[in-house]
Amino acid sequence: MAKRKMILDLDTGVDDALAIAYALADPEVDLIGIVSSYGNNLLDVCAENSLKLLELLGHTDIPVFKGLPHSCTTEHFDVMQVSKDIHGDNGIGDVELPAPSRALEEQSGVDFYIEAAHKYGKDLIIIPTGPMTNLAAALKKDPEIADLIGNVTFMGGALTVEGNVTPVAEANINQDPKAADEVMKSNLPLTMVGLDVTLRTLLTKNETKQWRELGTASGKAFADITDFYIDAYYNLDIDKRGCALHDPLAVGVGIDPSFVSTISLFMKVVYQEGPYYGRTIGDNAKLNDPNPNVKVAVNVDKERYLKAFMDHLNKLFKEN
Ligand code: BDR
Ligand code: CA
Repeated sequence: MAKRKMILDLDTGVDDALAIAYALADPEVDLIGIVSSYGNNLLDVCAENSLKLLELLGHTDIPVFKGLPHSCTTEHFDVMQVSKDIHGDNGIGDVELPAPSRALEEQSGVDFYIEAAHKYGKDLIIIPTGPMTNLAAALKKDPEIADLIGNVTFMGGALTVEGNVTPVAEANINQDPKAADEVMKSNLPLTMVGLDVTLRTLLTKNETKQWRELGTASGKAFADITDFYIDAYYNLDIDKRGCALHDPLAVGVGIDPSFVSTISLFMKVVYQEGPYYGRTIGDNAKLNDPNPNVKVAVNVDKERYLKAFMDHLNKLFKEN
């Protein structure tokens, strides 16, 4: 079985941490690097979290690159209080992991994207699960990559349901709607894994208990990290039944699109200030154009996905 080359673009984050674990555990994935973003925390914190988690999972071979520290329309980024409430002050459920033994790569995340697109072409899948600032910057620097990359499956947006930051805006898109609009309107083949499907895909403490019972360092740490997130979902009344598997669902769909059903559209993102800021919606200007570039996931086989998720993560945590 030929593995697919994958780059994760993460604002690591509890569910981003689960996305790392899923990508490492799926035998069909060759994770060639992680590009870091700001979002759930500051860029430097998110990047360090990725290094720490890779080390916990025995994968110091995967390079981590620094992305951009704030949106393309601002000069600065502050972590939102709600991000700390959901992901902890340190982004990973306030669980303390050892300081990483290695540094970030010298090359920028934007240049890594461009190099990988030229090297791997259609074999390359990119999974942004934070703001789209880095990918938009890469497209701006080398527009040719839009025609090279195999697929971009991103976690973000909401088409058939309400947003989670405002009634129309999902958190990742809300961080940098202009960058997201540029990505949507490029030639990239995109799959949108938004709140439409991620809010249906829930994890509970029944599952994290299984990881803890493995008796390994990674099983315990991931159970503690994820329980913080499940508690936050409960206490903030986001969902009392469990936490949404936003980011790892995007990884699963990137490799196996049959986890979701989709509709094909040309999409845009509203980035003008006002009540619709951050909304992901069909692009009226292209309603009659052929070959829409965005597949929007609108339903998910959550039972089959959850089984794959648990099979993969149990196996990975058993070994580390
Ligand atoms: C998205 O926002 C972030 O807080 C999560 O990590 C996820 O990527 C959910 O809206
Ligand atoms: Ca994320």
